[in-house]
Amino acid sequence: MQIKLDYNNMMTEFVGKHGISQGDIDALKGKISAAARAMENKRNQMAWRDLPYNQDDIVQDILLYVAEILPRIDTLVVLGIGGSALGPIALNQAIHGSFYNFCKKPRIFVIDNIDPTTMNDLFAQLNLETTLFSVVSKSGATSETMAQFMIVKDMLESRLGKERTKQQIVCTTDAQNGNLIKTAKTEGYKTFYIPSGVGGRFSQLCSVGLLPAAFCGIDIKKLLAGAAYMDKICENDQNPAYIFAILHHLALKAGKNISVMMPYSDGLKFMSDWYAQLWAESLGKKYDNNGNEVYVGQTPVKALGATDQHSQVQLYTQGPFDKVICFLTVEEFENDITIPKTFEDMPTLGFLGGNTLARLLNTQQKATEYALQKEGRPNMTITLPKINEHTMGQLFYMLEMATAFAGELLNINAFDQPGVEEGKDATYALFNRPGYEDKKAELETALPKSEKYII
Ligand code: PA5
Repeated sequence: MQIKLDYNNMMTEFVGKHGISQGDIDALKGKISAAARAMENKRNQMAWRDLPYNQDDIVQDILLYVAEILPRIDTLVVLGIGGSALGPIALNQAIHGSFYNFCKKPRIFVIDNIDPTTMNDLFAQLNLETTLFSVVSKSGATSETMAQFMIVKDMLESRLGKERTKQQIVCTTDAQNGNLIKTAKTEGYKTFYIPSGVGGRFSQLCSVGLLPAAFCGIDIKKLLAGAAYMDKICENDQNPAYIFAILHHLALKAGKNISVMMPYSDGLKFMSDWYAQLWAESLGKKYDNNGNEVYVGQTPVKALGATDQHSQVQLYTQGPFDKVICFLTVEEFENDITIPKTFEDMPTLGFLGGNTLARLLNTQQKATEYALQKEGRPNMTITLPKINEHTMGQLFYMLEMATAFAGELLNINAFDQPGVEEGKDATYALFNRPGYEDKKAELETALPKSEKYII
């Protein structure tokens, strides 16, 4: 069961002058081969590419841990942000849908923000005796996650005692660096590791994504098998990940600086959030690898079909020519519903009867694709034959490969995030974290805001 990329509507034959021609691709040949060579040569610097293959022991450890803990747990709360949260949210939604927490155990809540209202509302829902808190942070330092962790640890210890608290917390972090690993060791928490060289947004296929997935009954071996399957496909230079990157690269060069991800499936709704982080944080860069100021990147936009046909599609079809739209579609839905032939005597409604909702949804995607194509708007479609662990593994891995390849085409480092680190450091400084005195001084000398621009 292989996912497929259909890029007909990216090409000039189909969308005219705003499309990409074979000549454009040929002209990029030198860069494409250099990027493909770099992907091979740098493979050992991209540890996330080994994850489909080198985790037998980790998978075993996760499955044993889950089997041991599950009988006494009815709720899993994941505390993490960015790459530590978006993958687990996307995968659980894909496999279990929107209403999983209403009908299955353990319930899962991924808390990727520090809004006190949300935290209080969540705590009011929980029985601490039967809740496992999974703290996830690669750096073990991110203020949001560490603050959540401190609140939870304190709450558990005061309500359940120190010994019992140990059984209610699991940490996923770097094996050596950061405060989380130190605390986890001192306190005796169960710990899973994020391999060094696997950054936050590329971590969905390591314990960051595997642990919560296994808790919710997702077959993590099949997920990794799907990723391995895509990795093999990517051994051929003509692969969907590279084509995705090449087309986006050429489109960006032609002024299409927005990348819309638009699933026609509620299950895939949060893949757009995961993709948005991956594409934005990896490719939005000030400097290239030679230190030149380049200010590159493509702004990801999240949309959902058919819902956003009634909100954003007007802009996509007739607004500025600044977008590439990527649809995500599903050939066969897990369950379908037939629309009854209720109004056969009313042709303007009766035409719906006897069709299914899946057919209507997929037809609407085709119709939107056509409307875009007719207006000369480049778009492409990734189709999953079905949503399952194997196809999701393929999709995660394909988009990671596409992002890394796009980084090579742009000659930038797709794996750092200095802009994000700047914000993290400023928070530490403003909260008087030791070691950030210079940053604090820098912030204090920043231009004070003028009252005249505040009304
Ligand atoms: O992709 C990234 O590196 C970031 O988005 C991180 O995932 C995010 O900042 C959270 O970092 P950490 O896992 O270190 O707490």
